[in-house]
Amino acid sequence: MPNFAFDYLEGGIDDEASKRRNRQAFQDVHLTPRYLRDVSTVDTRVTLFGAGYALPLGVSPVGLGNMMWPGAEAALARAAQSARIPYVLSTFSTTLLEDIAQLAPDVCWFQLYVPRDEQVMEDLIARVKRAGFRALVVTVDVPVGAKRNRELKNGLKLPFTMTPRIVWQSLTHPTWALRTLTHGTPDFVNVTSYRTDPSQGLSDFVTSMTRPGVPLDHLQRIRTLWDGPLIIKGLQAEENFRAAIDCGVDGVIISNHGGRQLDAAPATLETLRQLPGDITDRLTVMIDSGVRTGLDIVRAKALGAHAAFSGRSFFYGVGALGEAGGKQVIEITRDEITRSLQQLGCQRFEDMDASWLAEPCDKD
Ligand SMILES: Cc1cc2nc3c(=O)[nH]c(=O)nc-3n(C[C@H](O)[C@H](O)[C@H](O)COP(=O)(O)O)c2cc1C
Repeated sequence: MPNFAFDYLEGGIDDEASKRRNRQAFQDVHLTPRYLRDVSTVDTRVTLFGAGYALPLGVSPVGLGNMMWPGAEAALARAAQSARIPYVLSTFSTTLLEDIAQLAPDVCWFQLYVPRDEQVMEDLIARVKRAGFRALVVTVDVPVGAKRNRELKNGLKLPFTMTPRIVWQSLTHPTWALRTLTHGTPDFVNVTSYRTDPSQGLSDFVTSMTRPGVPLDHLQRIRTLWDGPLIIKGLQAEENFRAAIDCGVDGVIISNHGGRQLDAAPATLETLRQLPGDITDRLTVMIDSGVRTGLDIVRAKALGAHAAFSGRSFFYGVGALGEAGGKQVIEITRDEITRSLQQLGCQRFEDMDASWLAEPCDKD
């Protein structure tokens, strides 16, 4: 993929310290293997909100997916459906939500950026329900758009402004350029119909469409509109987890947006580690941000996360291998989870818990 697209994918906020912290926190979790056990077969399946999935791994929502690789969103949705793992579609995807629901009917979840306009919010949720999405994931960690240095340097704006840098990078990536020509310029297809002022630029429209912060009464309203599994993505403060429980939320994805929003944010694994036991007992806790290997997912499970998601890994896959990339990432991770469990002497992923931690973790 051209550098401006890779920088959009790879970049973090400010000094990219929170992105580095996310990785380091995974590497700092030590587990003690238990040998003298038969681990000829291991079970990697998980149940989330009553539905069975083949692996404790899902695809995080990533906006502008087809800009990084034309057709990436459909390719990943197909790969997730065939492997039976959750695929979370972003509000700001570049493939219609109705089309993704057909490609991944059993595993599609929808990520909602809460619109300012209540009618738009109601319409979007009604479409998501009609299309058959299995879960609604409300992202709350973007109260304000991020200014990321790599994107500023590249002059990345929508609609695309053909700066000499972007033209050069596109021409030197002919496969990407040709595919983009046949696919068409990526657009925020799920929400363009809500744009009432055609003179408004795409980026300005998207910024103005979403709420600066999601107040609790909006969350309560969403709960009344959506009767399926409701998940909040991006919580970090304990008081917010408690408020989510009071709102009737079913699950959380602990996330700092892959280190893309607040550079002072703690590593997500640290947030997970510090979450009191009475909270983890009442919510299905999941995690993302910095998950790169099957062993990372096993480490997160030892600290109490039922499943983990990754954003960037899947786009590295499609960037490298195109359509086949999503499947490849899933298969590599499946193998890593299996080998890690065998190495640790744990026959079922569901059985991995804090008793494997080399340093005890006091949850109470
Ligand atoms: C390029 C890019 C675009 C993203 N777009 C969205 C989005 O539209 N909605 C959302 O909730 N999160 C978005 N995220 C955050 C991801 O859902 C996820 O939290 C993050 O990628 C996890 O970190 P990882 O990439 O290190 O695995 C985006 C992340 C990336 C890298």
